[in-house]
Amino acid sequence: MTDINALIDQLTLEEKAALCTGADSWTTVPVPRLGIPAMRVADGPHGVRRAAEGMALSAPTEPATCFPTASGLAATWDTALLRRVGQALGEECRALGVNVLLGPGVNMKRTPLCGRNFEYYSEDPFLAGQLAASLASGVQSQGVGTSLKHFAANSQEFQRFTINSAVDERTLREIYLPAFEAVVKQAKPWTVMCAYNRLNGAYCSENARLLNDILKKEWGFEGLVVSDWGAVHDRVASLLGGLDLEMPGPEPERVAAVAAAVREGRLPEAVLNESVRRILGVVLGRMPAAQSAGREAAPAAFDQAAHHQLARQAAAGGLVLLRNNGVLPLARGQRLAVIGRAAKQARYQGGGSSRVNATQVDVPLDELPKIAGAAQVTYCEGYPASGGPQPALIDEAVRAAQAAEVAIIYAALPEAYDNEGNDRPSLDLPAAQVALIRAVCQAQPRTVVVLNNGSAVAMGEWIDGTAAVLEAWLAGQASGGAIADVLTGKVNPSGRLAETFPLKLADTPAYLNYPGENGEVRYGENLFIGYRYYDARQAPVQFPFGFGLSYTTFEYHDPRLSATTCKDVDGLTVSVAVTNTGQVAGQEVVQVYVHDRQCKLARPPKELKGFAKVALEPGETKTVSIPLDFRAFAFWHPAYKQWITEDGEFDILIAASAADIRFTQSVTLQSTLALPSLLNRDSTVREWLEDPRGRVVIGPLFQQAKAQMGPAMGSNGEGSPDLMAMLMDMSLLNVLQFQEHMMKGAPPAEPTVQAMLQALKQ
Ligand code: BGC
Repeated sequence: MTDINALIDQLTLEEKAALCTGADSWTTVPVPRLGIPAMRVADGPHGVRRAAEGMALSAPTEPATCFPTASGLAATWDTALLRRVGQALGEECRALGVNVLLGPGVNMKRTPLCGRNFEYYSEDPFLAGQLAASLASGVQSQGVGTSLKHFAANSQEFQRFTINSAVDERTLREIYLPAFEAVVKQAKPWTVMCAYNRLNGAYCSENARLLNDILKKEWGFEGLVVSDWGAVHDRVASLLGGLDLEMPGPEPERVAAVAAAVREGRLPEAVLNESVRRILGVVLGRMPAAQSAGREAAPAAFDQAAHHQLARQAAAGGLVLLRNNGVLPLARGQRLAVIGRAAKQARYQGGGSSRVNATQVDVPLDELPKIAGAAQVTYCEGYPASGGPQPALIDEAVRAAQAAEVAIIYAALPEAYDNEGNDRPSLDLPAAQVALIRAVCQAQPRTVVVLNNGSAVAMGEWIDGTAAVLEAWLAGQASGGAIADVLTGKVNPSGRLAETFPLKLADTPAYLNYPGENGEVRYGENLFIGYRYYDARQAPVQFPFGFGLSYTTFEYHDPRLSATTCKDVDGLTVSVAVTNTGQVAGQEVVQVYVHDRQCKLARPPKELKGFAKVALEPGETKTVSIPLDFRAFAFWHPAYKQWITEDGEFDILIAASAADIRFTQSVTLQSTLALPSLLNRDSTVREWLEDPRGRVVIGPLFQQAKAQMGPAMGSNGEGSPDLMAMLMDMSLLNVLQFQEHMMKGAPPAEPTVQAMLQALKQ
């Protein structure tokens, strides 16, 4: 085991400064005289983008498996599968001489318009955290690191380099940070990548509160923080803020500036040493020695065919059947009309730094006939690559659909929509595709629409005429085969939405607070993102969070909680039996949401706190057990500055989607927290009375006031309702001050309140 501190002592100031900035686009600086190797990183997140040299996004990269993007992976709700995908990614990294994969990305899907939503998991922090932790653990099980990104509140591409995300503390803690927290604590990623944007005023790359206080101190992150590429504005400020490694390099002037800052006393050397310690901790402590020299030392190959199969399985697991009048699975021996450019040119990944040079790409149109057993398959283009509806293409498609028994339209968002660096202009499919779908559906009622998109699309204009809709995301190089698997019933669909599909853009939670102005986007919907918002507004949606159909049916029975009363620290286990009541094998996703019946602060009507995917043969029954811990009940209290629980009743909702609650059980929670009183000089009478110790302290005074104020308080001494209501929401100090003015012998207000505050401490 290398003694890193001893090594730091042997490094010169210049060497230490140099270590904290990349050597080039993808590697860190080596120090051969001390045996410190370089470390190579590569994008990420759903495939290895091993660049030759240089950093141009268009530069050729080495072939690697393009697994489903996070949009598709998330919809599997399958932690075991994600771990396997992670392992395969790790193997490919090793084979390609990559030490750290730049992913996963766990930013929240705050608006469906974010251009990078395809790289992110969910609108729900719990789901995103559990899935990404599984993927990261899988990668790291291969001796390869991950880079959890983009930390934090980077939920849009609009002005991503500069925008200030204004997020209140509670919202940050409950919505935008927990997925990061879960991955940091469960998977212990080697690195965390800071976001480009500012968060509450400070660039994430120099945000000491975020990087030092929360990530490193509170969560115990022991790895290194790397900048997003080019996110550093002031290298000295970023070191002080907790940013250990700047990428890309070289940046000789910045390195010199760091050394100068130490010499001039503007940057404590201890701060630089700490970043060096973290970098060496990863390079020497976590990177296996065999791989530290890069590919030359580890010339393993990976099994391309096996990984393609895994990519197909993962893609199929995330396909979500949204609507089906019985046309699916396709019966054998039918005449099929396959319509749409995306059937020939698969849309399987998004644009930007995550783009993988796939080892092979399934063409949907070729894959379907291989397993459909169709009597005939015809193809027509249906819509142009860009531009408005083309009547000639539509007419051709209508004729083909009429001549067939089933029409399958492969629709897709334009590439520019699912793209790093810009957001989508709209929630709709292009007009040319909408017109096509409407015309074909009119001509052929047995029309199936397959969708390729990285995030929700609006369907109001066209869904009513369809016989079935299959959401196929951007599901990687094997998605063409996976779509065929599901259409034909070779695989029973088991994907569930990891994001709500709204009816229209104006319904979405961030609608009035996106994309921001004057350099700032205010997360004004606070906790109410995704289903939390639609639930609270009781607003209809196109398809709810957690929703997805199957070719079989599942019955839930025998719900059970391990306790009807529990301490917050003990948590409890929810169990339910699920039976496959249909004719074919299938997988169900059991979801557990928690509803707090009463809380001092506003809470979303329900929140996902557990889930499990279970595979069942026809007629088979399994009991699923899902644990709920302290955090399943807790909320972040900005005044206590910590997660707290309150005594009280909670409903535990056992559900098949956010809108399909099968059972509601209740539990009485006992909080074990001993919290300090929040009462202060300005607290209202109501706050004093609601505080258990405050009530005791204020009690005698309250009685005395009642007696003294007699008539004003009402004949029965309880006060007129109006007066009481007014008093309750005045500060105690104010009430006493009025009393002091109005009544001889009344106690002096200020000293009385101070004495009471003192009494609370006893
Ligand atoms: C992206 C990161 C990526 C990095 C390196 C940045 O522009 O935001 O996600 O890992 O480039 O390519």
